[in-house]
Amino acid sequence: MKIREASSQGTACGLRQIQKGQIVIDGAGVRINRVIGSSRLNYIDPFVLLDEIRSVDPKDYIAGFPTHPHRGIETITYMKHGSFRHRDSLGGGGLLTDGCVQWMTAGRGILHSEMPEKTAGELWGYQLWLSLPAKDKMAEPRYQHLSPDMIPVVEENGMNIKVISGEYKGVHGPAKNWLEANYFDVALEKGSVFSFTIDRQMSSFMYVHSGTVSICTLFTETVSEKELVEFQPGTRVELKGISGTSGFLFLASHPNNEPIARGGPFVMNTEEEIEQAFLDYRNGLIG
Ligand code: CO
Repeated sequence: MKIREASSQGTACGLRQIQKGQIVIDGAGVRINRVIGSSRLNYIDPFVLLDEIRSVDPKDYIAGFPTHPHRGIETITYMKHGSFRHRDSLGGGGLLTDGCVQWMTAGRGILHSEMPEKTAGELWGYQLWLSLPAKDKMAEPRYQHLSPDMIPVVEENGMNIKVISGEYKGVHGPAKNWLEANYFDVALEKGSVFSFTIDRQMSSFMYVHSGTVSICTLFTETVSEKELVEFQPGTRVELKGISGTSGFLFLASHPNNEPIARGGPFVMNTEEEIEQAFLDYRNGLIG
């Protein structure tokens, strides 16, 4: 279900669909804008979830995410503002503050909790899930804490590009991935243009978190705050800031092209594997 069709000009410059998220309550009662992983947009293979938590009201997030399991995915949390405490069953943990990223490979199974530390002020962050390919779903769990000083920033022509993962103009992000993935947080001053050629085999999208951008420099398709745009593989995207400062997350990765089965915190290939994950969790075999 698309929220709106791209114009023919938009389609001509590589735009596949434009979407908005849905408000859901998850964890112990956290209000989330679910951009990917909802009934509106199930997945953009291999991206199976994108949640946005953004509120100045602690009631929306203070309940946090008490201990829960994961299997079959990597969960990537990017904290724009605020602080969250992570603890996991491998003894991993850390405090995510402004600009921090945690890149957690759940693999065959991990238990973790994600709880807010601050009880006042704005919380603004994202959690992305990458579905691991079948051959890696039962990989060893792993935790990477990426502090802001580890994340390179490319500044040029009115652009500020944080390279969390993957590569932009020879600058490499610090994350070690199972799946090759570009994860950038891009800020554009009005009039500046971010361009990127998407590999023929890659899925990609952007999620505008601030301001408004136009999709093509020659045409007039515009995308505003809280809208997601999926791009056609093999196109060159050109994104121009048309508000004071605009900002978006830009993601690209290779699709697994495998069946996707979901069960709460587990993402596997078959319903049997989901049942097995719940059984393993009940029997204390995860984490
Ligand atoms: Co989790």
